[in-house]
Amino acid sequence: MRDTVASTESRSRSNSHSSSFALVDHYARAAQRRLSNFSVLNVLRTFPQFIPYSEGSYKARSKLTVQAINETIPLLSELAASVGKPKTPVTEIVDFPDNDEQRQAANALKQHFDAQGSDKSNHHSYHHLYGAILANREAMRSVIEIGIGTQHSDTVSYMVAGKPGGSLRAFRDFLPFARIYGADIDRRVLFKEERIETFFVDQTEPATFEQLARSVDGECDLIIDDGLHSPNANIQTLIFGLKKVRRGGWVVVEDIGHHALPVWQAVSALLPEHYRRHIVNEEHGLVFAVQRLE
Ligand SMILES: C[S@@+](CC[C@H](N)C(=O)[O-])C[C@H]1O[C@@H](n2cnc3c(N)ncnc32)[C@H](O)[C@@H]1O
Repeated sequence: MRDTVASTESRSRSNSHSSSFALVDHYARAAQRRLSNFSVLNVLRTFPQFIPYSEGSYKARSKLTVQAINETIPLLSELAASVGKPKTPVTEIVDFPDNDEQRQAANALKQHFDAQGSDKSNHHSYHHLYGAILANREAMRSVIEIGIGTQHSDTVSYMVAGKPGGSLRAFRDFLPFARIYGADIDRRVLFKEERIETFFVDQTEPATFEQLARSVDGECDLIIDDGLHSPNANIQTLIFGLKKVRRGGWVVVEDIGHHALPVWQAVSALLPEHYRRHIVNEEHGLVFAVQRLE
């Protein structure tokens, strides 16, 4: 009998031990999962361009490094302004079309964006800008857009709503004689159809732009960056686009976060005068638009 009581007690002790172990294990795993969403960075090793090149504690130097990351680009823009390169003013996208022909083109283009499932006119209001740029529809010969549109959530900058290839088809339908080229990092969305061709590009890999430049004949009327939406990717696209755009043509970088204005003031200050620069405010962000004048 005593044996039985003892073994029952020991069983229940061991059950309660194993359930508390299971609980501890559960919480440990949950904590691990939460931690795995964060990176532990050594700031000094990760951002060598921005460290104070001086002696001091890790704590003090890492704080100064973060300050340098946040202040360096805005200060480049201030430096340019201080030596006589005035900051590019921010204008409104709705003011872009400046005559009736451009306004009509904008309205017509909006219908194409909406019909083809692009978010360029229902979420954004980019038709005002592209309507003005492309108003002379019959004269346009080629457009390149980086960012075809993927719905695969394993790709950064995937679309929650919106149809892959929607904007390419809208430009094709709007411009009767133009060839439309798309490029994307997600090979699953590449396609070919009437007057549309698409290619692989990774905006963080300059070599892939060289390949794209070889694949698309001649100079283009309009080059759009609607891809990764990070400043380095944008600037790679700009380097490619400014070489590939015809005289009078445009390079447009979409979806810039408002907080990144100083980056684009600095980029604008770097470009020579024969590129007309616009920083355009739109409800969900900024657009950087450049027209090549000569
Ligand atoms: C917002 S979607 C483009 C939407 C489309 N232009 C439209 O208006 O319907 C952004 C696209 O950028 C692509 N992308 C993300 N990172 C990229 C990279 N490093 N290089 C090229 N494309 C990239 C994504 O795969 C995605 O298809």
